[in-house]
Amino acid sequence: MKKLIAWFDERIPMTKTWNIHLAQYPAPKNFNFWYLFGVLAMLVLVNQILTGVWLTMNYNPSAEGAFASVEFIMRDIDYGWLLRYMHSTGASAFFVVVYLHMLRGMMYGSYQKPRELLWVFGMLIFLVLMAEAFMGYLLPWGQMSYWGAQVIISLFGAIPVIGDDLTLWIRGDYVISGATLNRFFALHVIALPLVLVILVFLHIVALHEVGSNNPEGINIKKPKGSVPDEEKPKFKFHERFTKKYDIVDAFPFFPYYVVKDLVGIGIFLFLFCYVIFFAPAMGGLFLEPPNFEAANPLKTPDHIAPVWYFTPFYAILRAVPDKLLGVILMFGSIAALFILPWLDRGKVRSIRYRSGFHKVNLTVFVISFVALGYLGLKPATEVYTLFARIFTFLYFAFFVLLFFYSKNETTKPVPERITK
Ligand code: HEM
Repeated sequence: MKKLIAWFDERIPMTKTWNIHLAQYPAPKNFNFWYLFGVLAMLVLVNQILTGVWLTMNYNPSAEGAFASVEFIMRDIDYGWLLRYMHSTGASAFFVVVYLHMLRGMMYGSYQKPRELLWVFGMLIFLVLMAEAFMGYLLPWGQMSYWGAQVIISLFGAIPVIGDDLTLWIRGDYVISGATLNRFFALHVIALPLVLVILVFLHIVALHEVGSNNPEGINIKKPKGSVPDEEKPKFKFHERFTKKYDIVDAFPFFPYYVVKDLVGIGIFLFLFCYVIFFAPAMGGLFLEPPNFEAANPLKTPDHIAPVWYFTPFYAILRAVPDKLLGVILMFGSIAALFILPWLDRGKVRSIRYRSGFHKVNLTVFVISFVALGYLGLKPATEVYTLFARIFTFLYFAFFVLLFFYSKNETTKPVPERITK
C-alpha cells in the first residue's frame, strides 16, 4: 500500500493535497450547527448531478416529447419516480441549504476581510444556481414551466433599446418554443453545471487560502512566535499554515470535522428522504400543481408564481409599478448582496460582539426576506402589494443603514482567544 501511495505521490500531489486540505487543515474548534451547510451544499450538488445524468438518459428535450418523457420516467422506468423526486426535491433542498449558508456568513461576518473574494465566488454560485434552476424548470414542459419562463424572459424586454432583441435572442424564437427548450436543456445539463462545479472548486480554494472564520469571528492565526508552546494545539498542522503563523484553538479537519459532519449529513438525509417519500410536491411548493398539466400556449394559468426560492425577488419585482424600475430593483437586491463586504465597514465580525442595532437590522432583514418570499407566492392584491412595498423598503434599508452605522459602531470587546 505504501509503495502504491508513493508511486502516485511521485506523479501527482495526492498525500500533500490530502494533508493541506483535510488531515492537517486547521479548522477552528468552535464550528457550530451553521457550519454544516457548506458540506450539505456539496452533497446536494453531487445528488443533482448524479440524478440529473440518469434522468437525461430517458428525457426527451423536444416540445413534442418532453412532457410525455417525464411521465414515462415517472411511470415506466424502474425507480424513475425516485430519480425525479430526488432531483426536484434536491433543487429545493439546494436553496434551503444555500440560504442558510449565506445567513451564517452574514451572522458571523464571514464576508469581511480577508474573505471578500470567497463571498463573491459564493454570490456567483448563487447566480448560476438560480439560472440553473430556472432553466431546469422549463424542461418538464408543464403549464408552469411554460408560463413561468414566459414571465421571466419577458422581463428582459423591459431593458431599453436592446430589450426586444434580447428576449428574441434568449428564446431563439418569437415565442417560447422547442428551440428555447433545446437551448435551456443544453445549458441546464452541461454548461451551467460545469460552471457551478468550477466555481465551487474556486470557492473552496479561496476558503483554504485564507482559512475558515468561526462563530466568534476570532482569528485562529496569531503572529509567529506570539503563542507559548504549551498553549498551541497538540495536533500536527501542515507547514503551509505554521510557517508564517502560530495556529491556536483549532482541530485538524480530518477526522474531527468529517465525523461531526457525518452526523449532520445523516440527519439531513433523513429529512430529505421524508420529503421524497411522503411529500415530494410539498403541497405545491416544490412542484406546482399546474405543472402536472402539459404546456398549452393557448391557456394561461389563473395564477402564475415562480417556485418558492425565487419568490422573494419576484415580490420585489411586483412591488414596483414600473416594469423597468421593478427589474432594476430585483437585480439590485442581488447586487447589494454582492457588494456586502464593502458595504459593511465594521471592524468586528461576529454578531455576538456587534451592536444591538446591528442585531435588529439583520433580524429585520431576515424577516423581510421571508415575508417577501411568502408575498411572492400570493396574487398581487392591493393589501399584499402594500406589504411587499414595505418589506422591499426594509430589505434595502438593511444595506443602506449598515453602510452608515458600521463605520463607527459601538461593539463589545472581542476576546483574543476562542473560549466558547
Ligand atoms: C453550491 C453552493 C455552495 C457550496 C457547495 C459551498 C461550499 C462551502 C463549503 C464546503 C464551505 C466550508 C464549510 C462551511 O463553512 O460551511 C463554505 C464556506 C463559505 N461559503 Fe460557501 N458554498 C456554496 C455557496 C455559497 C454562497 C451562495 C455563499 C454566499 C454568497 C457562500 C459563502 C461562503 C462563505 C462566506 C464561507 C466561509 C464561511 C466561514 O468561514 O465562516 N457559499 N462554502
